[in-house]
Amino acid sequence: MKILVISGARNSAGQTQQAVKALLAGAAKKGAKSETILLPKKKLERCRQCDPDGWGLCAMQARCVIKDDFAGIFKKTKAADLIIFATPVYFHREAESLRAFSERLQRICFKWGKYDSVERKPAVCVAVAGGGGTGAPATLREMELVFALIGFDLVDAYPIRRQNLKLKLPQLKKSGEWLATTPTSADNTPSTLRKPPATEQK
Ligand SMILES: Cc1cc2nc3c(=O)[nH]c(=O)nc-3n(C[C@H](O)[C@H](O)[C@H](O)COP(=O)(O)O)c2cc1C
Repeated sequence: MKILVISGARNSAGQTQQAVKALLAGAAKKGAKSETILLPKKKLERCRQCDPDGWGLCAMQARCVIKDDFAGIFKKTKAADLIIFATPVYFHREAESLRAFSERLQRICFKWGKYDSVERKPAVCVAVAGGGGTGAPATLREMELVFALIGFDLVDAYPIRRQNLKLKLPQLKKSGEWLATTPTSADNTPSTLRKPPATEQK
């Protein structure tokens, strides 16, 4: 299976990447391949809200008028089996580059009034509060809202702070092994069709 990391971190040896690399080491142990994209190193504009009513070509034709690296990253997103969205915490939120990317992703995935481009692809979110140490849970909550709305199946989220990064690295490696199994959310079967657990069956 192929994991794509889309990260708002600039520093390939920084705290965010240390956390991501631990996840990837676990996944690699179980045979997963991966690619990492550091968004600040890409040419990525923010959405221009490109027509008078603000909808743009994206909503009707699933394409963006801006010629930059977004289309290539979107193509890789669709091709991957699982996405790791990672960010350093800046001002209690995700980094600006990840925000610019997710805002454009949201636009391009919203076609004809519904989201279907990513087909409930499994994804996880990682937020590293590397300064004072506050803001990772709040950042993850915001990321979860956006990426779940876009249509990803968010199977886990990892809040990390500078003070517990080292402690969490072995746990992240273990979680990476689990990511290599391409996990999906619990039972998606409508409750009306679900069978009761064996212990409850007469
Ligand atoms: C503009 C800015 C805002 C930041 N805001 C926070 C914050 O709200 N909480 C926190 O714990 N750290 C904060 N930090 C510290 C970063 O989370 C820390 O530098 C992080 O390690 C950067 O990620 P990296 O090591 O992957 O580059 C901030 C750093 C910058 C540059």
